[in-house]
Amino acid sequence: MTEEIDGRETICDSVGSLVEGCRLPVKMRSSEDDWPLAEIISMRECKGHMLYYIHYVDYNKRLDEWVTEDRLDTRKVQFPRRDASGGGTTGVSTPKKQTAATHQNASSRPSSPVNSEMVNGNAVLAAALQKKISRKRKVTSASVDEDSQQEAPKDSVGTPRLTGSMVTHSNDVVTRMKNVEMIELGVNRIRPWYFSPYPQELVNLPCIYICEFCLKYRKSRKCLERHLTKCNLRHPPGNEIYRKDSISFFEIDGRKNRVYAQNLCLLAKLFLDHKTLFYDTDPFLFYIMTDLDDRGFHIVGYFSKEKESSQDYNVACILTMPPYQRKGYGKLLIEFSYELSKFEGKTGSPEKPLSDLGLLSYRSYWAQTILDILVNVKPTGENEKPQITINEICELTSIKKEDVISTLQNLNLINYYKGQYIITINHETVTNHMKAMEKRKIRIDPKCLHWTPKDWSKRAKW
Ligand code: ACO
Ligand code: ZN
Repeated sequence: MTEEIDGRETICDSVGSLVEGCRLPVKMRSSEDDWPLAEIISMRECKGHMLYYIHYVDYNKRLDEWVTEDRLDTRKVQFPRRDASGGGTTGVSTPKKQTAATHQNASSRPSSPVNSEMVNGNAVLAAALQKKISRKRKVTSASVDEDSQQEAPKDSVGTPRLTGSMVTHSNDVVTRMKNVEMIELGVNRIRPWYFSPYPQELVNLPCIYICEFCLKYRKSRKCLERHLTKCNLRHPPGNEIYRKDSISFFEIDGRKNRVYAQNLCLLAKLFLDHKTLFYDTDPFLFYIMTDLDDRGFHIVGYFSKEKESSQDYNVACILTMPPYQRKGYGKLLIEFSYELSKFEGKTGSPEKPLSDLGLLSYRSYWAQTILDILVNVKPTGENEKPQITINEICELTSIKKEDVISTLQNLNLINYYKGQYIITINHETVTNHMKAMEKRKIRIDPKCLHWTPKDWSKRAKW
């Protein structure tokens, strides 16, 4: 449907002409007046109304959501370009005719600010890059098994199929959309951020109920309660290798505790976007951080780590459960991962790509850890300036050299002076650093870590 404005036929102002791939301003749920540019990923009819699954072009996918048509500004639609095979032009295409009778007229809808940015170069570039790197791996749903074992799904020839570790994910529409409405984990109800291949019969339900200790999933609270009468775990499986106050770490071997590891990966995928689930957890160790109270050891977060990494990765995936986020636990997990590397006598780095929040957390951890070393270096003699080399910083922190260098550069601490690079820290940086460190109330205490690294290369098989 088109509208007559000023006597001339103008932009199509109708939801009926919208198709997947259209871009238009959409009112964000989290904000009153923001109408960022968004792309329609999918559309469906629900009780006589259309719903649109939209992605805000400049924002992280965790904000993607189903919206009703009153939140769309259809006056500013960019239609998807027709591809060459369709025989169309490369320009903006003409809108389709309105089809569904349920579409309402758009005229009563509120409108977005007129000067919103219509085309976003970064997003286009990012999408192109994403397409280039995406691998053609199909993500299939896990099997649901009423009790006892939830084994790895098998493919048609009976070999264990993907689950467990994660790689850069594919770009198809199904895995681009959140599929789980809600999970209940212990006392928390959590709204997932991304797709995770839970069994189809569970994803259509309003909530998936997960045992907070063994991480098995159930379709109703009743089923979970039945499970809890049989499940006697009150902590993750594996060895408790660290405890200080109420914080513990459990080490889990992805081969020995395959079911737990796979269920952990399924759960983690709900909050990890840039990775695809793999069903082979055997080559990984999982470090689960818990908080203890009189009911048990509650999972706060975890990281996974390859038993052997050819690229010096000391973390594969890292997650703080959303109810615990922004309280310093992410940095505690990171600190623990470097503590393990120190015990191994190696430097390490997180697996790339990092998510937006992953990068923020690592940058902040690296900056604080390196500054802490720098402000505490003592001069070797009177009238001497304190000296430390980058290699020494790496040895003291187990942070990989390139991360040390990029951190010093980001902090703008490296200067070229009289023919050599020197690090200069001003008073303000020191004061800010001191304030930031005061906020880091919980720290890893190496004395509480009881762990000997294994040399996995010497083992015939993990
Ligand atoms: N917005 C802005 N800043 C944030 C946010 C946020 N939502 N979340 C964390 N930060 C900042 C904090 O301000 C803090 O920096 P500061 O101390 O300099 O202020 C820093 O990040 C770390 O904060 P923590 O509270 O220690 O971290 P948290 O417990 O929230 O965990 C984590 C961080 C693990 C990245 C968490 O956000 C998460 O689980 N995200 C989803 C999964 C993910 O993206 N994981 C990383 C993927 S990369 C990889 O796996 C190798
Ligand atoms: Zn259980």
